Amino acid sequence: MTVKIVGVTGSLQSPSKTITLVEEIIAELGRALPIESQIIRVDELGPYFAGALSRSELPADIELALLAIETADVLVVASPVYRASFTGLFKHLFDFVDQYALVDMPILLAATGGSERHALIIEHQFRPLFGFFQALTLPLGVYAHDSDFTNYRITSARLEDRLRKAVGKAVPLIQSHLAEREEIERTLAGERRISEEVDPRKPVRLLS
Ligand SMILES: Cc1cc2nc3c(=O)[nH]c(=O)nc-3n(C[C@H](O)[C@H](O)[C@H](O)COP(=O)(O)O)c2cc1C
Repeated sequence: MTVKIVGVTGSLQSPSKTITLVEEIIAELGRALPIESQIIRVDELGPYFAGALSRSELPADIELALLAIETADVLVVASPVYRASFTGLFKHLFDFVDQYALVDMPILLAATGGSERHALIIEHQFRPLFGFFQALTLPLGVYAHDSDFTNYRITSARLEDRLRKAVGKAVPLIQSHLAEREEIERTLAGERRISEEVDPRKPVRLLS
């Protein structure tokens, strides 16, 4: 099964270290899994959704981007740090994502900043946002800062190592999530009977 990976970048400029980081994370995922991928870039789409209040106001291109996010198997989301958080337009894009479309979706979190001091943006800003969506945020995020790049290419062995570790930890979780989802879908389609052990309807017997 091909895994549909959608990257979302919150940078407002191009070239962008954040876009490079997402490309490299997706490439590393592609070395471990059969993937198809696309990247949704706020620097390209921002002018067409900024200021809108509801999804019905948005042009067709943005609706397609939102549908791609909502139907992904895995998201790789990343933003530059702007004033200790993700960019406003990154958040604004997710304001239009259906509240329940990302439930249980594996999401790899990443960010770039001008200094090393904002690495906890991943835990303090990204994880709560995607916690709201009830997504499965993957355990290791990737934070990079300006000196990890030269001419928008990654030139830091430490960042490459972190990126490989984050993907290495993510892959088995993605695989088990997709296998479980497939089993549920086959069961709901009537192709499989729920096994005794995992049948959620089976009563739990408490010891007296
Ligand atoms: C408006 C603005 C605010 C920023 N605020 C921070 C910040 O609070 N902390 C930080 O480490 N870097 C900050 N930066 C630096 C960017 O996060 C950093 O250069 C980032 O890697 C740029 O990513 P990009 O190349 O993908 O656009 C800020 C940059 C801008 C333009």
